[in-house]
Amino acid sequence: MKPFFVRVVLCSGLSLASLVPGRAAEERPEAARYTTKAAHDRDGIGKIYFGREIAQVMGHQGASWLERPERQTEERTDVLLDALALGPGEVVADIGAGSGYFSWRMAQKVGAQGVVYAVDIQQEMLDLLMSQMRRRQVGEIVRPVLGTVQDPKLPAESVDTILLVDVYHEFDFPYEMAQAMIRALKPGGRLVLVEYRGEDPAVPIKRLHKMTEAQVQRELAVHPVQFEKNIPTLPRQHILIFRKPRE
Ligand SMILES: C[S@@+](CC[C@H](N)C(=O)[O-])C[C@H]1O[C@@H](n2cnc3c(N)ncnc32)[C@H](O)[C@@H]1O
Repeated sequence: MKPFFVRVVLCSGLSLASLVPGRAAEERPEAARYTTKAAHDRDGIGKIYFGREIAQVMGHQGASWLERPERQTEERTDVLLDALALGPGEVVADIGAGSGYFSWRMAQKVGAQGVVYAVDIQQEMLDLLMSQMRRRQVGEIVRPVLGTVQDPKLPAESVDTILLVDVYHEFDFPYEMAQAMIRALKPGGRLVLVEYRGEDPAVPIKRLHKMTEAQVQRELAVHPVQFEKNIPTLPRQHILIFRKPRE
């Protein structure tokens, strides 16, 4: 599926990262964090980060797939929600919220005293999401936020838990998004990545839309968060929890 916006593509096919070998991503000039690949995967955008090709963004036309009735049994989304152990009054962010599958379920957990920021880069997704939230009577708890490919536009140090289900692998700017998300976390807050397991060929999802735990660890190691655990209870996905130190 074609992305709906113009992708930023580096002008040279030269691997700039190779000019600064051994340097961590945060020390490299912005252009050198990413390289490009002319002959790329049809599901990818030809942009490489830590050896991984970034996947194409899922268009809003595919939103019904996110709401498919069999999703709960295929992915055990109930088990994921229990693992998050959200409590009343918490502030959470659903980044890449899509149709809001998790936004309204998290809204039920945090209740009227809590907040769910539902962030997406597609206005069409947010329109669909908010009509569902109003129908499910959580429109006062869920706040739609139109982010950009580099910035989820969240207030600094305001969020207890950031959830990313099946989205990190399609960030055009994973380094910049991670920096911005961590800024938005309260000290002690959690960043939770849920990704289809790249190690498991039996998971019936396209290669670029899966990630291994090792790859996620490599990419997050350059940011000021600590890996806490991988909860191995889902049939198809990792639940990878990172925490922002309290300082
Ligand atoms: C595969 S869908 C997953 C939706 C939802 N998390 C779920 O599991 O039902 C990925 C969503 O992430 C959004 N997305 C991609 N890049 C994003 C970014 N940088 N910031 C916010 N949303 C993004 C897409 O627009 C799309 O709606």
